[in-house]
Amino acid sequence: MTENNPSGRVVVIIPTYNEIDALPDTLARLRATVPDADVLVVDDGSPDGTGDWVEEQAASDSAIHLMRRTGKQGLGTAYLAGFRWGLDRGYDVLVEMDADGSHRPEQLPLLLAETSAADLVVGSRWVPGGRVVNWPRNREILSRGANLYTRLAMGIPLRDATAGFRAYRATMLEKLDLAGVDSHGYCFQIDMSGRVEDAHGRMIEVPITFVERTAGESKMSRGIVFEALGRVTVWGVQRRAAQLGRLLRHRKN
Ligand code: GDD
Ligand code: MN
Repeated sequence: MTENNPSGRVVVIIPTYNEIDALPDTLARLRATVPDADVLVVDDGSPDGTGDWVEEQAASDSAIHLMRRTGKQGLGTAYLAGFRWGLDRGYDVLVEMDADGSHRPEQLPLLLAETSAADLVVGSRWVPGGRVVNWPRNREILSRGANLYTRLAMGIPLRDATAGFRAYRATMLEKLDLAGVDSHGYCFQIDMSGRVEDAHGRMIEVPITFVERTAGESKMSRGIVFEALGRVTVWGVQRRAAQLGRLLRHRKN
């Protein structure tokens, strides 16, 4: 593999569950835009044959890799398994990207360009210049509200802490206790952001245009929203208690 990317060897991790209608287009665009990056698809036994299709692609393109898991186990554990795979193989940068085209492969170079300056680069919908295309008003309100609540409750300095288009430096992921992460849905991204913040990692947001999927179906459920709401509240209280503790100790000294 040639290594034209200044940030080093890159692997793009794409979790999939029934994405046969969307993945071929996303993967073709990704390979065309960032040919030096490897790709790892983590498929949870998609009944629609997504895994079999990826296996065929991998046979003729050595940059494409497939991890098959049995049964739908959630986006969070798919990424954790992908991170482990990538770290074990010595990649320098590990990217998270959805299969459905919401994260435009053409914008990946914008994220990669910042990885030399940051430990975590977030493709952000809610910084100036960021946009969402084709979202119903209620979905926008939910995402903005969730992010506002997260920022206020947890004190994480990100406008888009639930964003799923991200690039991590391997050195950052190595420092985190990945085995201790047990978040499944949107809160996986928040969880990881909090851990990077606690580890004093440098985070940068770059504006992206998030395009709602036109093929296939969203896997996110009401349960995932409530998981996030509950956990952010608990983490928020824990973080604020820890901050208060530090402040009081500081005062005594
Ligand atoms: N392997 C695996 N297992 N993949 C999964 C699973 C699972 O259980 N559930 C979802 N995926 C894959 C989908 O196939 C897709 O590639 C990606 O994860 C995102 O799933 P979507 O169903 O498209 O989620 P979304 O559009 O609602 O959520 C996106 O936006 C959220 C913020 O608005 C994701 O990027 C989230 O990470 C993000 O928090
Ligand atoms: Mn989606």
